[in-house]
Amino acid sequence: MLNDKFYKVSEVFNLEEGKAVKLRGWINNIRVQGGLTFIDLRDSTGIIQVTLKKSNLNEKLYEEITNKARRESSLIIEGTVKNDPRAPGGKEILCNKVEIISYSEVYPIRKGLSISKLLDLRHLYFRRPRFQAILKIRNTVIDAAREWFKQNGFFEIHCPTFITAAVEGGATLFEVDYFGKKAYLTQSSQFYLEAAIFGFEKVFTIQPSFRAEKSRTRKHLTEFWHIEAEMAFASHEDIINVEEELVYYIVSKVIDERKRELEILNRSIDKPKRPFLRISYLDAIKLLNEKGIPITFGEDITTEAEKTLAKIIDRPAFIMYFPKTTRAFYHMPHPEDNRLTLSSDLYVPNEGEITTGGQRIHDLNLLIERIKENNLNPSDYEWYLDLRRYGSVPHAGFGLGVERLVKWITGVSHIRETIPFPRTPVRVYP
Ligand code: 4AD
Ligand code: MG
Repeated sequence: MLNDKFYKVSEVFNLEEGKAVKLRGWINNIRVQGGLTFIDLRDSTGIIQVTLKKSNLNEKLYEEITNKARRESSLIIEGTVKNDPRAPGGKEILCNKVEIISYSEVYPIRKGLSISKLLDLRHLYFRRPRFQAILKIRNTVIDAAREWFKQNGFFEIHCPTFITAAVEGGATLFEVDYFGKKAYLTQSSQFYLEAAIFGFEKVFTIQPSFRAEKSRTRKHLTEFWHIEAEMAFASHEDIINVEEELVYYIVSKVIDERKRELEILNRSIDKPKRPFLRISYLDAIKLLNEKGIPITFGEDITTEAEKTLAKIIDRPAFIMYFPKTTRAFYHMPHPEDNRLTLSSDLYVPNEGEITTGGQRIHDLNLLIERIKENNLNPSDYEWYLDLRRYGSVPHAGFGLGVERLVKWITGVSHIRETIPFPRTPVRVYP
């Protein structure tokens, strides 16, 4: 069976009328109208109408199929291509042979199910064209990111998932019992990428990060995919330029190569205007205050404020120079205003933050001082401090959340739609 030539649905749309074909796939829909049965056959490339005529087939088999072949049954069909302007795509297949591989039970996904029930059935989602469209865009995002990094001299590094000290603060650490010792799931691969620049100068990774984030929002997962990069001999300015080029490249590639999928999602998105906006944190809180949102200097931008800011901007914007009080200890202080850091968040319209990045402290004593100021213990960061002991250099990096980016590009309303098996505080199944 595996050696036979099977056509793909997408190939059939390019064949001449009368061509004999054989296909395999699943029943997306079946309609019986007396002696005629219409099957929408789905494979990984699309859906095509297959017409079964009672008079063309073995009568017993025809009866069995029309009685038992529900949606999702898997089958092999043979037939000939026919032009039909009424059929979706302008072609159908007149079937002369059917072999059922496996009959399906009553398919449980249907209209009117609650979100929670639908999420229980997530393992069946891959059959849905809309879900496929989102995942195809996600695939293009990952391909484009890797392509951009490779074209620009970045080396790919794989970092550990079990770690021993917080990168982004203790509140969102997942603790793991590691043979009687405490370990954690990584929140960010940043520190490991910082180690790698001493061999490769420009490095990146694409791998999961974990956050024990109890807040149930439309933009937080407990396990998300993280694109992170780190560059030696680089400043804050250098790294935001990298972020801008990378994000522009990814979005452009999706727009150029995933038109059909964006159409399925009813999403119209243009290539962003460059350069991206650059707004200081100080100006951002002024803007927010004008809109009646009371953020005072030193406070982080709340979820509500983030939403407002994301509505104000009409293209991607870097919010720059966050205060130390809102940032992890490793951020380089601003040389002209010691209250601030050389760090930025990239915001996109209607969504908010998709990246955080900046310049790192490369001086050993300053780093130890900042660790202590944050009530952390320098001995927990011994190996990280070593990176400042042996030929330290100015460096900078960032992290980009894959699902946040895909959410923006696809325009879906919840982050869980952007990942096959979402993990949230209330869901680790299936
Ligand atoms: O802003 P974050 O916490 O920054 C870092 O982890 C840095 N250490 C990255 C670095 O410099 N290498 O996370 C970076 C990005 C966020 O901007 C967001 O897009 C995404 O990761 N992210 C999440 N995505 C989904 N669910 C969550 N709970 C996320 N937390 C962060
Ligand atoms: Mg951030």
